[in-house]
Amino acid sequence: MASLSKLCTALAVASVFSSTLALEVCTQIQKAMTSASTVSFPGARVGNYTADVFHWVASSSQSAACSVEPGTAADVSTIIQLLGKAKAPFAVKGGGHSGNPGFSSTTGVQISMRRFSSVTYNNKSGTADIGPGLTWDQVYTALEPHGVVVAGGRVGGIGMAGFTLGGGYNWLTNQVGLTIDTVTAYELVKPNGKIVTVTAASDPDLFFALKGGGNNFGIITKFTLKTFARGNVWGGAIGYPPSALAALQAAVLQFNNNVTDPKAQIIPGYTHVSGEFEPSIVLFYDGPSQPAKIYDAFLAIPNLFQDVSPRSMGALVASVPTDQPAGTRGYFHGVTLTGYSSKLLAAIANETSFWGARLPGVSVGYHIEPFLETIYAHNTMPTAFPWFRTPRTMPLNLQYTWNSSTPDAIVYKAMKQSAEYLTKIAVKDGTGVANAPIYPNYALFGTPLGSIYGNNIPRLRTIKAQVDPHNVMGLAGGWKL
Ligand SMILES: Cc1cc2nc3c(=O)[nH]c(=O)nc-3n(C[C@H](O)[C@H](O)[C@H](O)COP(=O)(O)OP(=O)(O)OC[C@H]3O[C@@H](n4cnc5c(N)ncnc54)[C@H](O)[C@@H]3O)c2cc1C
Ligand SMILES: *[C@@H]1O[C@H](CO)[C@@H](O)[C@H](O)[C@H]1NC(C)=O
Ligand SMILES: *[C@@H]1O[C@H](CO)[C@@H](O)[C@H](O)[C@H]1NC(C)=O
Ligand SMILES: *[C@@H]1O[C@H](CO)[C@@H](O)[C@H](O)[C@H]1NC(C)=O
Ligand SMILES: *[C@@H]1O[C@H](CO)[C@@H](O)[C@H](O)[C@H]1NC(C)=O
Ligand SMILES: *[C@@H]1O[C@H](CO)[C@@H](O)[C@H](O)[C@H]1NC(C)=O
Repeated sequence: MASLSKLCTALAVASVFSSTLALEVCTQIQKAMTSASTVSFPGARVGNYTADVFHWVASSSQSAACSVEPGTAADVSTIIQLLGKAKAPFAVKGGGHSGNPGFSSTTGVQISMRRFSSVTYNNKSGTADIGPGLTWDQVYTALEPHGVVVAGGRVGGIGMAGFTLGGGYNWLTNQVGLTIDTVTAYELVKPNGKIVTVTAASDPDLFFALKGGGNNFGIITKFTLKTFARGNVWGGAIGYPPSALAALQAAVLQFNNNVTDPKAQIIPGYTHVSGEFEPSIVLFYDGPSQPAKIYDAFLAIPNLFQDVSPRSMGALVASVPTDQPAGTRGYFHGVTLTGYSSKLLAAIANETSFWGARLPGVSVGYHIEPFLETIYAHNTMPTAFPWFRTPRTMPLNLQYTWNSSTPDAIVYKAMKQSAEYLTKIAVKDGTGVANAPIYPNYALFGTPLGSIYGNNIPRLRTIKAQVDPHNVMGLAGGWKL
């Protein structure tokens, strides 16, 4: 609760910055920028304000004084300096998929990185330069003609920037680690306006900090990621009737305990919506066809729909759509696990039904992400997240969505309570550890910083003080150091 009240204080401070002052900064930015960039105002007939402030869930959007679409890193530099000088609240939005209000939204100046949308494949280095305004579907599509993929998003439509700044659990995680483990360079506009390329050699501290440290260190204008030669991959989604639960739980446990092929991954999910319990799964195999045995149990359970086939990575990812009805509100949260047991899987299913029944009008979802013990062994360099790599921890994703008829605070309290309950069960059961790192891209706002960055906090704060001594990035929301 202490951190929640701190957050409220921060929000109150932000609103003290008057809308007149915010508009003044908007005008300053408009005057200083090149024609590569635009400023838009609410209600104006021209411009792209509505799209710029739009988020995947409506609860993450705010009414900004204006929106800015920078078109060049030089303009981002101009903007960040003006914002810093005016101490104006602002937000940086990539794909806009954060479930935390204020993390990529603001009542001040909304920056949308939409125009940073190029993908350049470098044949020699085997890397791709990727614009932070893209979603992963777009990235996969652009790389497909080159016969390569990156270690990115697993379902449709997700922004690549916030995903990569927080960590990135992807379809190649068993083979290459998190998305941050595959980043070779960042083009960063520092809070003082300097445009730099950050690599392991150029600035090992900042390179470490950007790998999970979110928006604390400036604005990224380009990510360079390793690419991997790939043809088709195999997989897709299956939806089951409620009666499939016992068979699905058994198959998930068998997969978690016995499947050692790093090319195989799954995301089983339980959702309770409109009084119905809906088990589902997304299957993935990093090969052109279905492998022997591994998925037989999942495919043998009678289903409601099945969309499993060989296809490109981009097509597979896009085949799992995540569109929301307009106006849907939503939060994410994470529970961190070190394994799965039948008791824990039963508890997760029970949480789904329990809170689903308790919160009519709310879609209550839990997504299980089993990974191999070795996922953090693919990178030996330390990263801001996770702050320890053994034992291997795995995120369980909580995703609740609802309509405005349910007060946000009721959902917030339920998700917090459910995550705490499951953590307690897991620790007791040997499938969790106390003080495990909570994945920053899933953690619900108000989660203590220590649960996210743990022992890395002192080093991150030292780096932060060097790169952002006036705390310009503190004017934007997020997990603040
Ligand atoms: C349906 C769905 C599926 C998901 N699946 C996965 C998954 O498979 N694996 C996984 O790891 N995560 C997954 N996530 C979580 C995802 O990683 C986060 O939602 C992430 O924040 C999305 O990035 P974004 O750019 O869309 O977010 P935004 O809301 O735009 O930004 C998130 C944060 O990043 C900052 N930021 C964005 N761009 C920049 C930039 N250029 N410079 C500096 N800071 C920036 C923002 O200020 C904000 O604090 C999923 C989320 C959803 C909604
Ligand atoms: C506004 O933004 C949306 C998506 O963010 C984009 O599809 C559209 O082309 C943009 N419109 C203009 C006029 O720039
Ligand atoms: C890319 O690299 C491959 C193998 O090294 C080579 O055969 C191919 O001609 C290169 N393509 C381009 C466009 O340079
Ligand atoms: C794993 O495989 C072994 C041997 O094939 C089997 O006895 C065991 O039941 C399996 N574990 C699970 C959880 O299914
Ligand atoms: C189901 O979940 C609720 C809420 O966490 C808990 O109180 C209850 O004991 C659980 N029931 C079972 C059978 O685990
Ligand atoms: C919210 O309302 C929309 C439109 O009526 C509906 O499609 C959607 O399913 C509702 N969401 C939930 C979680 O009930």
